[in-house]
Amino acid sequence: MDNRPAWPWILFAGITLIAFLSLAHPLPNLSAAAISHAVLAVGALPLILAAMIYFTPTLTRSGPPPRSILLAPLAALAAGGMAMMAANGSLIWIHPAATLGIGAALATALWMGRRAKRCLGAPHPGLRWYQWALGMLLAALLSMAMAAVWTEQWQALRSFHLHLNLLGFVGMTAIGTLQVLIPTAGGFSDPDAHRRLALDWKYALAGSIISAISAGWLRPLSALGLILWAIPLTRMVRGLWRQGGAALWASETALLSGALAGFILMMVASAMIPLGLVNADDSLPLFFSAFLFPLVSGALGRLLPMWRWPGPSTPARERALKRLATAGRLRALIFFCAGVMVAMGNPQGIPLALLGLAWLLLLVLWSLITPGPTHTDSAETT
Ligand code: HEM
Repeated sequence: MDNRPAWPWILFAGITLIAFLSLAHPLPNLSAAAISHAVLAVGALPLILAAMIYFTPTLTRSGPPPRSILLAPLAALAAGGMAMMAANGSLIWIHPAATLGIGAALATALWMGRRAKRCLGAPHPGLRWYQWALGMLLAALLSMAMAAVWTEQWQALRSFHLHLNLLGFVGMTAIGTLQVLIPTAGGFSDPDAHRRLALDWKYALAGSIISAISAGWLRPLSALGLILWAIPLTRMVRGLWRQGGAALWASETALLSGALAGFILMMVASAMIPLGLVNADDSLPLFFSAFLFPLVSGALGRLLPMWRWPGPSTPARERALKRLATAGRLRALIFFCAGVMVAMGNPQGIPLALLGLAWLLLLVLWSLITPGPTHTDSAETT
């Protein structure tokens, strides 16, 4: 893995941050849906594919990914740009965006499948979460391509697309990764994570599909989707708490634990929508503030130093990891409070969440652009 090129990962991380910050200065001629796609389709989609490609060799005990597979996140980036235009009302972009996105997701899934087949012994069960997450993305993009021609079903297919993407694609990738990333970041072992990943993917998958169908066509099923998702989440929280305890709230882990708490908050808020206690329009800002932002802050805090200094640990990498974890607890609290405010209909939650994001950007610049006295590092590492 040592000779893995570092620049593509850093590129995707940079694009994600810039896309996310577009929330702070939305262009006046962009609709809310176009801004959502700047964050999700231009920012998160290529980064998630790149992260999946980065982790697959570890999950399948195989060599570094070939350069050619990095075309998949690049194609996803182009698809994301077109999706932004489609969501801004230029509907002619729906089919090119969906086709390119489907191509990128399929190429990644097929490559993963080949790696899994060649793996000595069974691949790590985390791979299955990624494979199904890609399946959800494929169905979500297909549904939007169908909506463009089957216009009577536009609203239903749009809701289906939204839920499959957020819960199935982003949710399954995130929860599958956090089961392993939280113990790694917290420096504790969680021997049960393997078993949970092997058993619980089906509840997350069924929960995502049922939530998407209920959002599109069968409202009364929504509670079932939430109950199914509650099974893996409860087991995960119990398992992590037993093994990690206070380490879950250390500076290095707080943002990742905060993202998990934010995902649960989002589920609880969804259950309150039918009771009229939470407004459905606040769900997407809640997803961003309480879940996606702390997730990206915590995951980039772990991954960027690995991508920038691949191979064996160096003092520069350790320093970057420490810098990126600065005030992790406070930032996690900011995101969570912002999420609670958004769920309660208080619009001030959004600027608060953006403050947390701006803080991440400053830490990234501090950690990567000024890594410290590198001459000492080379002396220390040699
Ligand atoms: C790449 C191909 C994609 C296309 C062509 C596409 C297209 C669209 C369109 C046309 C809408 C309806 C916009 C409206 O209501 O006016 C929509 C909504 C939505 N899509 Fe996508 N999308 C794509 C990818 C994604 C991805 C990857 C995600 C998330 C990871 C996503 C999440 C959403 C969300 C959350 C909404 C609701 C937006 C809102 O109400 O603000 N989409 N999409």
